[in-house]
Amino acid sequence: MWRLKAVVISFTVLWTTCVGLDMKFPPGFKFGAATSAYQIEGAWNVSDKGINIWDTMLHKNPSLVSDGTIGDVACNSYHLWREDIHIAHELGLHFYRFSISWTRILPTGFPNKVSKDGINYYNKLVNGLISKGIEPIVTLQHFDLPQSIQNLGGWTNPLIADWFADYARVVFSNYADRVKSWITINEPLMVCDAGYNVGLLAPKVTEPWLGSFLCNKHVLMAHAKAWRIYDENYKGKYHGKVSIANNPIWLEAKSEEDEELAELARQFGVGRYSDPIYSKDGGWPPAIEKLMSDYSKKQGFPYSRLPTFTEEEKKIIQGTYDYYSLNHYTSRVVRPAREGEEPGPWYVSGSKELNAILEAHPRWRVSDFKYIVIYPEGIRRQINWITKRYNNVSILITENGLGTKSSDMHDTARINYIHDYLEQTLLAIKEDGANVIGYTVWSLMDNFEWMFGHTMKFGLYNVDFTDPLRKRTPRASAHFFKNIIKHHSLDVPRPSHDTREIKYNNANSISSLYILIGLFSLGNLVSYCF
Ligand SMILES: *[C@@H]1O[C@H](CO)[C@@H](O)[C@H](O)[C@H]1NC(C)=O
Ligand SMILES: *[C@@H]1O[C@H](CO)[C@@H](O)[C@H](O)[C@H]1NC(C)=O
Repeated sequence: MWRLKAVVISFTVLWTTCVGLDMKFPPGFKFGAATSAYQIEGAWNVSDKGINIWDTMLHKNPSLVSDGTIGDVACNSYHLWREDIHIAHELGLHFYRFSISWTRILPTGFPNKVSKDGINYYNKLVNGLISKGIEPIVTLQHFDLPQSIQNLGGWTNPLIADWFADYARVVFSNYADRVKSWITINEPLMVCDAGYNVGLLAPKVTEPWLGSFLCNKHVLMAHAKAWRIYDENYKGKYHGKVSIANNPIWLEAKSEEDEELAELARQFGVGRYSDPIYSKDGGWPPAIEKLMSDYSKKQGFPYSRLPTFTEEEKKIIQGTYDYYSLNHYTSRVVRPAREGEEPGPWYVSGSKELNAILEAHPRWRVSDFKYIVIYPEGIRRQINWITKRYNNVSILITENGLGTKSSDMHDTARINYIHDYLEQTLLAIKEDGANVIGYTVWSLMDNFEWMFGHTMKFGLYNVDFTDPLRKRTPRASAHFFKNIIKHHSLDVPRPSHDTREIKYNNANSISSLYILIGLFSLGNLVSYCF
């Protein structure tokens, strides 16, 4: 019997080795690249554009950014949008994800005044993309909140849900006839936990108690109201899709005993921003609700720091999705903090509440920035977690990419990163049955990378920030990505590491590994059969 089993296993291995290792993407799988308004547009003071929280923060204190740069000009895409369409077309992108600047459309932040120039700018961009056969995917809010709204408490004020809905209504009414894919809010975990808790990003509110949790509830309400406006007024006619972009770091248990803690940490980081929308019962993840209630009591609060939802609010939020928008870059292992050890670090809020330590696995590759640890299997596990928890929802990867210090045109590290993360995505689709419908590189081009300024490069295209024309030049990764799109397959030549020339070799590390395994299995097969 065991012999028969061995033969079957060997045959299976042989089959996947010689025949089944198919690096093709499913038909209909789409490729794109992304940017955001503040990071590329510049033109912070043209026409009647209003001021946002990044304008304010960095004009007051440019030294907050690593290299003292600010986004006043950035890639100057407000004037050079034709260049952006040109390079998106050169790559053969199926779609281009960009964001709309709220204060370019509504200078006061409110719908009392709509900017003609603002509306026209995005009309030109959307029409230009469509004329080249590139689908626009539009984010309504990517970190650049109107200062007027921040003055009223920003995301900690519950009224923001209606103000955001007002803004969404104006945007939809102008572009829904041509834009079919929407993202309401980018990375609420960063907006809330980095903006209203640890004070890492604008508006840099440092408030460890309520800020991030109020924000958490209000981004969900804002998203839900916008989703419902689209659903009621436009979906029947234009059949578009609306989602919210979450950015989970994959969290892996350090050892088997830590699995429960790791799962709580996942629910703290991703579940708080997803369960109320995607889960069967709506509302917060029950384990997190209980944890926060107990923890708040211990801290002397007469109520939970995690605000409650009324039944009506729960219903407003639940089910407001058409797909899951996933931004993913990196992973961590989780273990309990030891006696006397500070829990943390900040980037999963909840490390304090969970008394957890998040750290890089010693075997994972560290990138130029210690924040990004490279663990390609993490994306497969994250996809599987979402697939399982949210009933096989279709997933669009809306950001993935590597930040480097070097602006080298031969960006082998970026090529390997994109290759390896795409390979794991393929495995999630083909081996695990996940419903991943597309993949987006962050970013189309180098841009203003928030607190890292221009020191962190993410671009498939290099941008020369000393050139008034901000010349965009393709890196080796651009050629690589273009080839993947063209062949709809990951089985394309990778530019080799060790030469200044872009030479191509068929460096498919996995195939040589599989050939070895194949030979080994063949050996087995022969010895078992004869
Ligand atoms: C806009 O800001 C730039 C600096 O980024 C400045 O040189 C220019 O004078 C400003 N223009 C207006 C109209 O205020
Ligand atoms: C998810 O749905 C797709 C079709 O949409 C299906 O092919 C796949 O088997 C499903 N996967 C799981 C894990 O249920």
